[in-house]
Amino acid sequence: MAASGKGHENWSSRSAFILAAVGSAVGLGNMWRFPAEAGENGGGAFVLFYIFCVLLIGLPVLLSEVLVGRHGQSSAPESVRRLARDSGAGEGWSVLASMGVFAAFLVLSFYCVVGGWVVYYIGVFLSDVFQTGVVGGAFEGRAAEDIEGLLPGLFGNAGLMVGLNLGFLAVTMFFVARGVSGGIEWVAVYLMPLFFFLFLCITIYGAFTGNFGEALSYLFTFDASKLTGEVMLAAVGQAFFSLSLGVAGMMTYGAYANRDTNLGETSGIIAGADTAVALLAGLAIFPIVFAAGLSANAGPGLMFQSLPIAFQEMPFGSLIGLAFFTMIFFAALTSSVSLLEAPTAWMFEKFNMSRSMATLIVGLGAAALGTMAALSFNELAEFYPLSFIPLFAETNFFDTLDGLTAKLFMPIGAILTCIFVGWVADAKLIDQENGLDGALHKLWRALVRYVCPLALTVILLFGIFG
Ligand code: PHE
Repeated sequence: MAASGKGHENWSSRSAFILAAVGSAVGLGNMWRFPAEAGENGGGAFVLFYIFCVLLIGLPVLLSEVLVGRHGQSSAPESVRRLARDSGAGEGWSVLASMGVFAAFLVLSFYCVVGGWVVYYIGVFLSDVFQTGVVGGAFEGRAAEDIEGLLPGLFGNAGLMVGLNLGFLAVTMFFVARGVSGGIEWVAVYLMPLFFFLFLCITIYGAFTGNFGEALSYLFTFDASKLTGEVMLAAVGQAFFSLSLGVAGMMTYGAYANRDTNLGETSGIIAGADTAVALLAGLAIFPIVFAAGLSANAGPGLMFQSLPIAFQEMPFGSLIGLAFFTMIFFAALTSSVSLLEAPTAWMFEKFNMSRSMATLIVGLGAAALGTMAALSFNELAEFYPLSFIPLFAETNFFDTLDGLTAKLFMPIGAILTCIFVGWVADAKLIDQENGLDGALHKLWRALVRYVCPLALTVILLFGIFG
């Protein structure tokens, strides 16, 4: 780690920054949220529009965010303020990042609930390894319905749900309190490569044993009539969620990038890796869903209910299941760490407090909201906090946090970021940061200035009122 300026840390190498940013992007969003959203929104139309959004909207916005961060070398709101000041614009623009910081806090609160489910499954497979021995298939002798029933069983146990959520949050707080080089980087550098490898193996296994053909046609057949405003907004929201955009997370990490890192190229690597993992997840999960006769629109439980069924049939299933959920745990951790880092960096900078104190305060807030989110599956199942808004009618606290951030905060944050970077900020300063030249640079500028803000506004309006 090299210190630069006022005690601000930098990543120790270019690859460490890339891995950490990929670590932020790749997480439950890819494995859990992407298949669930694809299934709930009808498959092919959603998936192809999602890919389109990643390329034409997500990628340009990602580059915009990291470059704002690197220029400002601070927490997200302060970075925006600096770039605004250096461009002779009003400092009020920092509001776009403050909104993002708040959204990151909201995402963190429900993200850790799902992190808790992952911990639960680690426990299940661990006890299975002990009971059946390493050689036996996971859950030997158990029927598929039993395995499917594990998740509803967990949902019914309010105390366990809250406990697991708080446990996952506590681990996240531990890493963030240790700081960028001490905590976050370690997880990213050592665990991300391992994760990719294991994931690939499971996808290949699924391709040979599950209903791969049906999964392929489900995921990639484009049916234009299914592309409603709602589906489009869901796809944009998923693209942002998966790339960690619109919530100041990538701005915060951009501030830790070295001067000689080519941000254009790096953004391409981050988006490519993230999308590859999401598609791998789809290709791993849907063949099992179809082969086991599960319903594709099962919602948030899809990954947790389908994969264990496959592990049950595999040789060494308990061990593979254990390894797999352990990997997901770490992938989720590198994301939750970035979610907590954004508000924490803002807090310790703004109030001049220690990193640990800021972590503790933000963490306690997330614990309170997260408890409500965990209880949405049991005690508070009938509590619909924003039911007066049609988009959130009959939507429980957990789903409200999820929908509010992915379908409103993230797109709005991205629109403001595009306007700021494309129109307000000094083009010369931007050009020093983006690492693009020639046609690519022109294309990026056109996307950020015109295409992204317009497309996002249309999709947002269409999705809400259409
Ligand atoms: N991108 C992360 C995932 O896919 C979630 C996340 C969203 C992380 C926003 C940081 C900011 O799991």
